[in-house]
Amino acid sequence: MSNIVILGAQWGDEGKGKLVDLLADHFDYIIRYQGGHNAGHTILIGERKFVLRLVPSGILHPGKTAIIGNGLVVDPLALLEETEQLRAAGVDVDQQLRISNRAQVLLPSHRLVEKISEANPAKVAIGTTLRGIGPCYEDKAGRRGIRMADFLDREYFADTVRGLMADHITKARAFGIEDGIDVEALVARYQEAAEKLRPLVCDTAYVLAGAMRDGKNLLFEGAQGTMLDLDHGTYPFVTSSSACAGGASTGTGVPPTKINAVIGISKAYITRVGGGPFPTEALDARGDLIRNRGREFGSVTGRPRRCGWFDAPLLKYSATLNGFETMVVTKLDVLDELDEIPVCAGYRIDGKTISEMPATVRELAKAEPVWEMLPGWKSSTEGISEWDKLPNAARQYVTFLEEVTGVEAGCISTGPERNQTVRRSGSLFEKITR
Ligand code: GDP
Ligand code: IMO
Ligand code: MG
Repeated sequence: MSNIVILGAQWGDEGKGKLVDLLADHFDYIIRYQGGHNAGHTILIGERKFVLRLVPSGILHPGKTAIIGNGLVVDPLALLEETEQLRAAGVDVDQQLRISNRAQVLLPSHRLVEKISEANPAKVAIGTTLRGIGPCYEDKAGRRGIRMADFLDREYFADTVRGLMADHITKARAFGIEDGIDVEALVARYQEAAEKLRPLVCDTAYVLAGAMRDGKNLLFEGAQGTMLDLDHGTYPFVTSSSACAGGASTGTGVPPTKINAVIGISKAYITRVGGGPFPTEALDARGDLIRNRGREFGSVTGRPRRCGWFDAPLLKYSATLNGFETMVVTKLDVLDELDEIPVCAGYRIDGKTISEMPATVRELAKAEPVWEMLPGWKSSTEGISEWDKLPNAARQYVTFLEEVTGVEAGCISTGPERNQTVRRSGSLFEKITR
């Protein structure tokens, strides 16, 4: 039996959707463990494109069970929109999707509360997705949140949600943010949504425990990325959940002892959306080239993603926290046109070379990358699926990333589609995904 976590090793958008979809055939259950509809996981199958936000990326494989774990914050209206799109594409949502009765319910008034910090000129904006994710997790930690099981309890839900929304509206008004929220209309809309979702809600921790007893394989799909993790990321420029591997246990109820391996996903370069320090950011024409070739625009908000070069200290930090020994290097094809490619091999802060990730964003903002220049390959790698067919310089580039991080690149992605993938034979990646 093998239960594996796939997660973003950088600041999100590494290509998790593609990889989870690619590997889903080897697993029986695909499980999201944190985040909400701030995530946007893209899957391209021929002409068809899916951007999944709450539903795990394995749902496109008939017969697989997709689970929304207790660690998520779920906007029921966003979820219904997503399930309708999946049904229209022929997915058997009723059979394949299950939602934890302990997941938190996200309300429109959470978005209102988010404006207090994000739209207030007197405060430093994080540059969030404005989906209400942070305020919903705040209510969870403040022990006043509403969970899916409460949502299905018609009377209890109506009473508590009125109180919670009133609190949100009062808070927002104190900052001059006007609401325009019709509480009663929303209560009715949410109650209607609850009836539609009722058949899908259950105690998913027991479902997964039973699945493991039956020898089924579980694939945990991380959202966001390690550097956006609430504890380990570039705080406060992070999301409000545990994107690291540890979250796979708390966010699902699957004990840590049952998780066998972790795979990190990293772009061949790096991007970030929103604010916060970014030591290897390319603010020149090469950054624009990456953005255009890599179509680096947010799949949720459409914002241009900030682009930069592969950051080895960051990747090593990520491997340490998550315990992965193999990684998938995605979007190698995006670098095809470059003459030479910088890689950040280390940081210098205040004249000292350091090998660890500093704890504060103030220190990280001072980090000067120690660059290594690698030759470009100046030819197309798009769609190549065999290691030996990659140009020499592209192989050298990947090998250098392995050397400088100490992590195997067991798989390389050369395009958004399933078959545009190099799986390296004899690799740890091959062994754990068999
Ligand atoms: P996720 O959030 O980690 O699932 O990633 P996103 O879906 O937000 O962003 C990744 C984008 O890159 C999507 O548009 C994918 O279709 C695309 N993509 C994934 N792998 C590759 C690749 O190897 N090459 C190229 N050119 N695009 C890729
Ligand atoms: P996937 O799963 C990239 C970023 C936001 C912002 C910070 C906090 O597709 O990789 P939030 O709305 O979560 O409170 O925003 O986190 N962010 C992401 N960046 N990919 C994502 O998800 C992200 N989800 C949140 O841009 O900087
Ligand atoms: Mg994304």
